[in-house]
Amino acid sequence: MIDLSVNKTVLEKNITKAREKGVIIPTFSQMKDPEGQISDDIKGRLRNTGLWDLDPLNLFRVTWKNEPVERGGLFGGPNFIEIPPALSGVKARIVCLAGKYFPTGCHKVGASFGCLVPRLVTGQFDASSQKAVWPSTGNFCRGGAFNSKLLAVDAIAILPEGMSRERFDWLKTVAAEIIATAGTESNVKEIFDKVREIRQTRKDAMIFNQFEEMGNYLWHYQVTGNAIADAFESIRSRSPGESNFAGVCFTSGSAGTMAAGDLLKQRYPCSKIAVGEALQCSTILDNGYGSHRIEGIGDKHIPWVHNVKNTDMAIAIDDNDSMALLRLFNEDAGKEFLIHEAGLDADQVKNLALMGISGISNLLCCIKFAKYYELGSGDVVATVLTDSVDMYRSRLEELREERGAYRTLDAAADFAASLLGESADNLTELTYTARKRVHNLKYYTWVEQQGRAVEELDDQWYRQEKSFLGVQKQAGEIDALINDFNARTGLQ
Ligand SMILES: Cc1ncc(COP(=O)(O)O)c(C=O)c1O
Repeated sequence: MIDLSVNKTVLEKNITKAREKGVIIPTFSQMKDPEGQISDDIKGRLRNTGLWDLDPLNLFRVTWKNEPVERGGLFGGPNFIEIPPALSGVKARIVCLAGKYFPTGCHKVGASFGCLVPRLVTGQFDASSQKAVWPSTGNFCRGGAFNSKLLAVDAIAILPEGMSRERFDWLKTVAAEIIATAGTESNVKEIFDKVREIRQTRKDAMIFNQFEEMGNYLWHYQVTGNAIADAFESIRSRSPGESNFAGVCFTSGSAGTMAAGDLLKQRYPCSKIAVGEALQCSTILDNGYGSHRIEGIGDKHIPWVHNVKNTDMAIAIDDNDSMALLRLFNEDAGKEFLIHEAGLDADQVKNLALMGISGISNLLCCIKFAKYYELGSGDVVATVLTDSVDMYRSRLEELREERGAYRTLDAAADFAASLLGESADNLTELTYTARKRVHNLKYYTWVEQQGRAVEELDDQWYRQEKSFLGVQKQAGEIDALINDFNARTGLQ
C-alpha cells in the first residue's frame, strides 16, 4: 500500500514552496478525464505553453489525452493508432496508445508523477531540503527529472551509461545531477547497488525506485488502464459487428504499465494479460542471463510492483526483430516498400514513427498473442508505445554504419521474417504453479537483497486486498490530499 501518513510541518513547507513557484498539482481524476475535469482557466493558460516546456502548467499534460501538437494543445480522447492487418499479418485489431504526446515524449512521466506526488502532498518528502533520486534505465529518470523541475524539486537521475545519447543530452538540461552506472538496460542490479549506496551515504536524498513504488502501479492502473478502455470503447462504438476486448501485452521494465491490465481485466473479465521480455535474456520464460537491445525493459529480476498472480502469459521477443523493424519503419526504402508492396497508405506508414524499440516489441507481443489465441477480426488486443523513434535516431545511425544503407531487399526480408514470420513460439501460458514460481523469484531481489519483509511478499500472493487491490483504491484518498494542497497554496 502507499503510505499516506501526513507530516504536517514538512507539508506546510511544501505548500509555501508550491505557492512561491506557482505549482498547481493535477488529480488522478483530471489525468483520466482532462477535457471534462480541468478548469477553463488552466486550459486557457495551456494555449501558450509548449508540450515540453519546463512550466508547472505542464503537470496537467501528464495524460494520454493531449492534443498531438507541439504547442498550445488542449485535450481530446486518448492518442492511439490501430495497426493494419496488412502489417501485422493477423486479423485481430491491434491498438497502440502513443506515448509520444506526453511531455518528454514518453509516458514514464506519469509513473514518476505517481511516485513523487503522494510523498509531496503528505509532507513525507521535503521539497526544500531533499533531492529526488530517479533510478532508471532511462525514461523514468527523464520523467522524474521533468516532474521534479515542474514541482520545484532538485533531481538526481541514475541510468546506465550505455543508454542512448538522446536521453543523456536532454537530461543534462533538466536534472541537478546525473549518475551513469555500468552497463545497459540489462544491468538493473548495478542500478540497485547505486541506490543502496546513495541511501547509505546521502542524507538529503529520497529514492523513488519505480521497481517497487506502488505509485507507479497506481498511476498506470488508473490512468493507462482507463485510457486503453476509452480507446477500446471508441473503437467498439464505431464498429458494426461484435468487439471483444481480448487482452493487453506489455514488455516489462518496472512492470508499472502492466497494472493497466489489472483494471482492464476487472472491466473485461475474459481478457488476458501478457508480459513481454527480451528473448536474449528472458527471466520469466527461462531464467536467462545476458543482455539485449530493447531499451527500457529490464530483466534478471521480477519488479516488486508486478502483479504476477494476475499475469496470464509470458512472451519473449527477439531483439533482432525489433531492431530490424526499427529500420523497416523508419528508413526511406522501408517506408516505400510498405506503401508500394505491403499496401499501407502514407498516413499508416507515418504513424509507425510513433514506435520506439520497446513499442515495436510490444507490437510483436500482440501479434504472437493474437496468433496463439487464434483471434479474429472482432477481437482487440491493446498495448502502449512507451516512446517514439525520436529517442532512437542515434541507434538508426549506428545501424546504418554497422550494416550499410537500407535497401528494398532488406525491407522485403525484414517484413517477411520479422513481421509476417512471427509465430506463437517463445511464449508460455502461465498456470497457477508457474505464476507462483515467478512470484517466488521476488524473494531474492526484494527480501534477501533489498530488505523487504517476507509478510509483504506473502500479502501480494495470499492477501491482495493488502497489496494490489488495496492500492487500486487509494487514488481517491490521494486526490483529496492533492485538492487540499492546491486549496492551501491559494493558487486554484
Ligand atoms: C522505452 C521503454 N519501454 C518500456 C518500458 C517499460 O515500462 P514499465 O517500466 O512500465 O514496465 C520503459 C520503462 O522505462 C521504457 O523506458
